[in-house]
Formats: sequence, C-alpha cells, structure tokens
Amino acid sequence: MTRGPWLALAAACAMAACQRAPVSPPRPRDAAPDRPLARFYEADAGAAMFTEREWRRIRRMSPVPPLEPDPTNRVADRPEAARVGYALFHDASLSIDGTVACVRCHDPARAFSDGLARAEARGLRGRRNTPSLWWAATHRWQLWDGAADSLWAQPVMAWEHPREHGLSRDELARRLIARHGEALRAIFGEPTGDPLSVIAQAGKCLAAYVRTLVPRAPAPFDRWVAGDASAMGAPAVRGLQLFLRVGCIRCHSGATFSDGDFHAVRFPDDPEAGPDHGRREGAERARLHPLRAQSAYSDDRETMFPPNPTSPEDEGRFLTPSLRGVALTAPYGHAGTLPTLEAVIDLYAAGGAPSGDPNARGERDVFAEPFSLRGSDRADLVAFLRALTPDAAR
Ligand code: HEC
Ligand code: HEC
Repeated sequence: MTRGPWLALAAACAMAACQRAPVSPPRPRDAAPDRPLARFYEADAGAAMFTEREWRRIRRMSPVPPLEPDPTNRVADRPEAARVGYALFHDASLSIDGTVACVRCHDPARAFSDGLARAEARGLRGRRNTPSLWWAATHRWQLWDGAADSLWAQPVMAWEHPREHGLSRDELARRLIARHGEALRAIFGEPTGDPLSVIAQAGKCLAAYVRTLVPRAPAPFDRWVAGDASAMGAPAVRGLQLFLRVGCIRCHSGATFSDGDFHAVRFPDDPEAGPDHGRREGAERARLHPLRAQSAYSDDRETMFPPNPTSPEDEGRFLTPSLRGVALTAPYGHAGTLPTLEAVIDLYAAGGAPSGDPNARGERDVFAEPFSLRGSDRADLVAFLRALTPDAAR
C-alpha cells in the first residue's frame, strides 16, 4: 500500500470520529471515559450502591461550573469593581453608629455567615438567620424570600435596614460619595446627583466582590467525584445515596445544591421574631424594589423576567439554600431555629413541622415527603452534608 491512503485516513481521523478509540475497552455499566468515577466499580464495593442514572446526577454535582454572566451589572466581572466592593464590604462607617460593616455578619471564617440563630447588630436582633455568601452569585433571587432580584439590588436593603446598617437613603448616598466617591467615579464616571444612582453603583461593586466569594479548596465530595476514593468515608458515601433516594436532590440540585427556587419545607419560625411568610412577601417586595432588574439603574432591563405575582401558595416558601459550607453555618433555617444538622434531618424525616404548629407556615412541598430513618441513616446523611465543606475551611 502506498502512503497516500494512510495519510487520507489519518486526516479523516483527525477531523472527527477516529479521535475516539476505535475499539472501546469494555467499561463498567456507566460510560465515563473522561472521568475516573468508573474506577469505583473496581476499587470500592460502595460504588455498586449507585445506579447509572445516579452516577449521571452525581457528575452534575461537582465541580461547580464558572458563574454565569450578570447582564444587569456591567461591572460584575471587573476586578477594579470587586476591589471597591471589598472596601465597601469592610467599611463600618457606612452604618448609623460606625460599628456595622457587612463583614461583621458575613464572617469569612464561617463561609460568610455569623454563627447566630438570628442576625444581630447594634444590640438589635433581626428576624432572620444570616446565610452563607458562598455561591450566592449563582442564584438570581437573594435573601430567604427573594426580596432582591439581583446581587446588586441586595446591599441597599442591608444599608437601610433599621436592624442592620440603619442609614437613611440620603445619608447613605452622602457617605458613599464622601468615602468612595473617587473610586466609584473612576469606574462609572461623574455621579448624577441622584442618590439611588450612586447606591446602585456601590451595589454593583459589592456584587462584583460577592461573586468572588467561593471556597478556595475543593470539598471532600469534590475530590471523591474527581476520583479520590479515600476522600469520603463509607458513611458519607451512604449518606450521598440517601440524599439521592429520599429526594433531597430534588431541591438541593446541581453543583451548588440549590435549585435557586422557593419551597415550603415547614421549618419553624422563631415566635420571638413573629411569623415569616417567606416568598409570599418577598415576591411583592422584589416587584417594588427601587433597584430591580427592570429599573432604570439596571444595565439590562430586557433579559431578566420580573417575579411572578404573589400567590397564596407562596406562603411559607423560602429560597433553597446552597449546602456547600453547611458544616460552618449552624444554626439552620430562615430563623435559625434548628441548632444542628441532625435536627434538620429529623425534621425532614417527620415531613416538616406538623400542620397544627402555629410557628410553621405553608403547605408542605410535594418533594418533601416524610421518610423513615433506620440504623445509621441520620449519621450517614450528616457525614455526607459535612463532606460538602472543604477541610481547610473548618
Ligand atoms: C446585621 C447582620 C448583617 C449585615 C450587617 C449584613 N447582612 Fe447580609 N444578610 C444578613 C441576613 C440576616 C440575611 C438574610 C436576610 C433576609 O433573608 O431577609 C442576609 C442576606 C444577604 C445576602 C443574600 C444571600 C442569599 O443567599 O440569599 C447577601 C448577598 C448579603 N446579605 C450581602 C450583604 C452585604 C453586601 C452587606 C453589606 C452592605 C450585608 N449583607 C450586611 C445579615 C447581615
Ligand atoms: C422541597 C424542596 C426541598 C427538599 C426536598 C429538601 N430541602 Fe433542604 N431546604 C429547602 C428549603 C426551601 C430550605 C430553607 C427552609 C427554611 O429555612 O425555611 C432548606 C434548608 C435546608 C438546610 C438548612 C441550610 C441552612 O443553611 O440553613 C439543610 C441542611 C437542608 N435543607 C438539607 C436537606 C436534606 C438533607 C434534605 C433531604 C432529607 C433536604 N434538605 C430536602 C428545600 C428542600
């Protein structure tokens, strides 16, 4: 044979099909030539615990993909905006008595939460638990009830909140210009004199910073998915199986373990803080928010849909929180009424607070059916949840 046909064949191969091995080696049930998960089938009897469909799901749970762009914030990925955001995040002078900065409640050592049941500032207790900010940028709706429809609409709520920074809108704008005016001007040009305009600019810089708040190391679960069979012990692997089979995955889905949506799972309110209606209030607040995605302050008023009008079914619905970092963010739930992960799991097993409970609202979501816990189930689920936090962060 001359060299001609071989070259032609090589060229055809380089173009497409032949780049895959012409004869595939026999593979275990699940085809995964590019990811070493298949190794579990040989190395670890625990691997047989998962069906093919479950493996496909597990692969979607790690690693966390890069953030989607935010068209409503044109500086969302500009490092100089994130630098200004960092300064704003740590600036206590943006509060009525000069003692409250964002970082006070969003502590980097606790995945940017505060360890309290309900947030506290200036001796005042708020009505809700401080959520982690890890991966906050991956969901559009911010706050437990989604009252902010973008990451940059949220800071003004903290700055003006009487139990957080406690500033009036005009005073806030004045202080922003006095302390950060030059930095903001360098990014956005001359200010217009409209207080909300400068507040929106500061919010966009804070959003750029919050987008960078992701754990620096992979969690044991990520290392396990990447092929390190020793990264999770047998209890955590069994916990993962339960997580898939009792249906946690239906809402805590994808690589951030959140569907970014609202559900009623009947976690109790704190009676001291009063009833919390969740999304039923939040949707309305988001529609009226001065810095909503459809406002004149947005950099893209077309792409983002407004919230659906509130309906009675929204009663007691809250944003599904990400579970990454959950080992660091106790106590749990919108009002911090569940002290431990064990308490959370017991509540789910019971199907949420009972229907007569005056401290829980809403009709239980169909995805949150009760289930029975046997033997080591509770401990295994907790072991899995803990494997979602990087060791170094603990
Ligand atoms: C007094 C404590 C406190 C301070 C100060 C504070 N926060 Fe928060 N933060 C909270 C609480 C509590 C929530 C949940 C509130 C709610 O759902 O209504 C929250 C929610 C958030 C969220 C939404 C996260 C999510 O996943 O829904 C973001 C983002 C955020 N804060 C950023 C900030 C920024 C930026 C600042 C400074 C401008 C700030 N926070 C100041 C306590 C605080
Ligand atoms: C129907 C959707 C849904 C299902 C199913 C579900 N969750 Fe949740 N999860 C939520 C919502 C919504 C919240 C917030 C509830 C609240 O605060 O009122 C939450 C909160 C949590 C929290 C507290 C996180 C925090 O930061 O406070 C943990 C832990 C958790 N869920 C784990 C689980 C586990 C484990 C399962 C399976 C047994 C599960 N979830 C099933 C939607 C769901």
